[in-house]
Amino acid sequence: MKPKKTVLVLATTNEGKAREIRNALLDLPLKVITLADLGIRTPFPEKGPSFYENARGKSLFYSRRSGFLTLAEDSGLEVEALGEAPGVYSARFSGRRATDEKNIQKVLLLMKGVAEDNRRGRFVCCMVLSRNGTIVKTVTGQVRGMIAFDKKGGLGFGYDPIFFFKPLRKTFGELRPKEKNAVSHRGRALKKMKAFLEDDLKKGCPPS
Ligand code: IMP
Repeated sequence: MKPKKTVLVLATTNEGKAREIRNALLDLPLKVITLADLGIRTPFPEKGPSFYENARGKSLFYSRRSGFLTLAEDSGLEVEALGEAPGVYSARFSGRRATDEKNIQKVLLLMKGVAEDNRRGRFVCCMVLSRNGTIVKTVTGQVRGMIAFDKKGGLGFGYDPIFFFKPLRKTFGELRPKEKNAVSHRGRALKKMKAFLEDDLKKGCPPS
C-alpha cells in the first residue's frame, strides 16, 4: 500500500500563482489542493499594511478552516518612482473592477515620461505556512527589474509583460514557467519553503 501523502492547501484564488506554486512543489510527496477543492469560498479581506500581514492573516484563517497544512502568500510590485506603489494594492491598483490589463495600463500611464534610469521596480513575495492556526514557517523572496515602456510577451500573469529582467534581457511575460520560477520572487521564496517542507516531511510529520 502506498504511504498516505500529506495534504497541502494552497490558500489562493489566483490561478497564475497556484500554477507556479504547484509546479515548484511537484516532486514533493504532497497532495496539493486548493480552497475550491474543499468548497471553501469565504473570502479573506486582504487589508493589511504589508505583504507579511496579509500572507500571515490568510494562512492562519484558512488553516483553521481547512484543518490541513496551509500555504498562503502575498506578493506584488513595488516601483521606486511611484513611492513603492502599487505594493499591497497590486491586485486592485486600477480599482474595484481591476484586471491585469487595466493595472498594467495604469502603471504605464503613471510612468509616462520617466527616464530609463528611474524605472527601477521589484516584485516581492511573502509566504506563510500554517498548521491548525499556528505559523510553521515564513519565507520571503524578491527580484529586481525595470518597468518597461511597453508590454512585451504573453506568458505569466499580472504585471509580467512590463517587468523587464536585465540579466535575461526579457520581460517576465517572455519567460517560460521554468525560466521565471528560477529567478522570480515567488520562485526564490518557494526554494526556501520547499527545503523546509522536504525536511519536515522527512522527519515524518503526520499526514494531515
Ligand atoms: P494578491 O497577492 O493576490 O493580493 O495579488 C498580488 C498581485 O500582485 C497580482 O494580482 C499581480 O497583479 C501582482 N503580482 C504578484 N506576483 C506577480 C508575478 O509573479 N507576476 C506579475 N504580477 C504579480
